[in-house]
Amino acid sequence: KVVAVIMVGGPTKGTRFRPLSFNTPKPLFPLAGQAMVHHPISACKKIPNLAQIFLIGFYEEREFALYVSSISNELRVPVRYLKEDKPHGSAGGIYYFRDLIMEDSPSHIFLLNCDVCCSFPLPDMLEAHIKYGGMGTMLVIKVSAESANEFGELVADPVTKELLHYTEKPETFVSDLINCGVYVFTPDVFNAIEDVSSHREGRANLRRVSSFEALQSATRNLPTDFVRLDQDILSPLAGKKQLYTYETMDFWEQIKTPGMSLKCSSLYLSQFRFTSSHLLASGDGIKNATIVGDVYIHPSAKVHPSAKIGPNVSLSANVRIGAGVRLISCIVLDDVEIKENAVVIHSIVGWKSSIGRWSRVQAEGDYNAKLGITILGEAVTVEDEVVVINSIVLPNKTLNVSVQEEIIL
Ligand code: GDD
Repeated sequence: KVVAVIMVGGPTKGTRFRPLSFNTPKPLFPLAGQAMVHHPISACKKIPNLAQIFLIGFYEEREFALYVSSISNELRVPVRYLKEDKPHGSAGGIYYFRDLIMEDSPSHIFLLNCDVCCSFPLPDMLEAHIKYGGMGTMLVIKVSAESANEFGELVADPVTKELLHYTEKPETFVSDLINCGVYVFTPDVFNAIEDVSSHREGRANLRRVSSFEALQSATRNLPTDFVRLDQDILSPLAGKKQLYTYETMDFWEQIKTPGMSLKCSSLYLSQFRFTSSHLLASGDGIKNATIVGDVYIHPSAKVHPSAKIGPNVSLSANVRIGAGVRLISCIVLDDVEIKENAVVIHSIVGWKSSIGRWSRVQAEGDYNAKLGITILGEAVTVEDEVVVINSIVLPNKTLNVSVQEEIIL
């Protein structure tokens, strides 16, 4: 048997995702019309002999209850949310729940970060891991040398694929091969985590302060049950024939900001062409709106036939789109109304917002820039004929004048 664990983090972790994380946990924010965490969950479905999926986080249980019960029914695999009383770190979190994770005596445990967007080639990873042997195999990808320092950088043996060296977000360049945050482990990983925390406990009991210890002080001050997978497990175990790498040639992105969620929504929409084409809208421009490229429209959304939508648009539940509206590259959340002849480009429109007639809400579409996309928080009203460019509008605001490059608090 195999189990999968998805690390969903908690409310203090999602700060870069504001204002979209104010009322929805980031893992439930929709990308291509499905919760962020839905994409790794549905990838887990393809793992042979999958017994259970655990989501581990420190959000309140009630925030995940509805999602977890509906996805369990839909996929016919038990999905359980396990709440930590406090953050234990990416390895400490699975160690805390080791008894539940080991309930079905799995031979392998997948561990996935919730905030990455990729094709999750899990069965291929498992096959590679069984061939390599050792305690774990991690998904890796080559990125540009300039962006590599935002991630864990690593060196792998080109032939055996063994992980030889690992440094988390190094200040000086190590390698353009990086950690994708997707792993498969044998249950031995729990022993490795236990070693770290008992070692730390031992060190905390030492009174003598040597210069070596001063160097290690940042780590020494961590609680003994807080264990990070990257610094505390991957770095020390590199080069010990325990960890291996599996390189993906497919897409991979990290989802830390709203701008990246728009980019990842488009990656998942294009993946739907191969995996879930029934979710993609098609239009004829007569009875249905004109559809350009990959578009997701929730069945309850009402779209005027004279609207033109796409590419990279997803419309959530109960959205109403008026006559002559043009939408390009945007995520429109539940209960939004976009009135006649309005235009929305490179933007995220928050729940229950309303955009007036002949208004424009747009941005340049630089996913990495702070104001590269326009974001309207929950229940924002943009009045008729108002233009909003490269701006972030916090919840419950009404805009009756045009704004550009502004954060409206
Ligand atoms: N439940 C729980 N508890 N989840 C946690 C905790 C915790 O205490 N701490 C982090 N997480 C979750 C986050 O929500 C995220 O999904 C994942 O674990 C990793 O988060 P971080 O530890 O903050 O690391 P990161 O995202 O900055 O970088 C990691 O992932 C990159 C790939 O996206 C590192 O492993 C990098 O090396 C890697 O490149």
